[in-house]
Amino acid sequence: MSKQPIGIFDSGVGGTSIWKEINSLLPNENTIYLADSKNAPYGLKEKKRIEELSKKNAELLLDKNCKLIVVACNTATTNAVKHLRNKYNIPFIGIEPAIKPAALQTKTNAIGILATKGTLTSDLFHKTTNLFGNGITIVEQEGEGIVQLIETGKLYSEEMKGLLNIYLKPMIEANIDRLVLGCTHYPYLVPILLEILPKHVKIIDSGEAVARQTKSVLEKHQLLNTSKAKAKHRFYTNGNPKVMSELLGNAYKVEYLKF
Ligand code: DGL
Repeated sequence: MSKQPIGIFDSGVGGTSIWKEINSLLPNENTIYLADSKNAPYGLKEKKRIEELSKKNAELLLDKNCKLIVVACNTATTNAVKHLRNKYNIPFIGIEPAIKPAALQTKTNAIGILATKGTLTSDLFHKTTNLFGNGITIVEQEGEGIVQLIETGKLYSEEMKGLLNIYLKPMIEANIDRLVLGCTHYPYLVPILLEILPKHVKIIDSGEAVARQTKSVLEKHQLLNTSKAKAKHRFYTNGNPKVMSELLGNAYKVEYLKF
């Protein structure tokens, strides 16, 4: 059982940012990554549709014998992880915007959150902001268009810079000192964000926390792979393999899969 792979899925290539954190903390683990790029962005879809797509991804990974599934997508987690946990009998790890650490750390009492519409309008997101957002200003911003640009290989484009300048302006005006990245595609934006943000703003994402949580759940279920054999990684996309391959530094083979 412990040699079975960890399954990871996202609406597209963004979850590779989470895969990197998991692979760095758990280098012995075999993994299978599924990018549903054909249906990206999930962030503009209805909850019901996000649930259906998440179910389809989870079933594909279950067919491939995964022992645990990481929902490497804030939108799918905030809208569908409960549904997946109720339906299937293996552990699911989700990812949510790191509002709690940002709210605890802020000194200017203002934080910014960049996320998809699907995440910002979810019940889970509202619950978390109500729980930790007391007494601080939270500037929420939908990252409209960002996922699409990354999915089409336009990460470092003038268009992207233009969008980010617009999206960050109200946050900078509100004097935020923490920016929460609430979408797994966004860690790839960090070099551009650092050019735009004032020096005192710290960027926070949930990738490391997800990797630590994955490790602790594997330990709890005695599922850690203790084999010393070199780990195997499979990457599947129903979109353009080249875009994903580039985000992985062209170090891994990415296969096209129809699903
Ligand atoms: N990576 C997904 C997330 O974390 C992107 C969502 C989308 O496809 O809109 O939310």
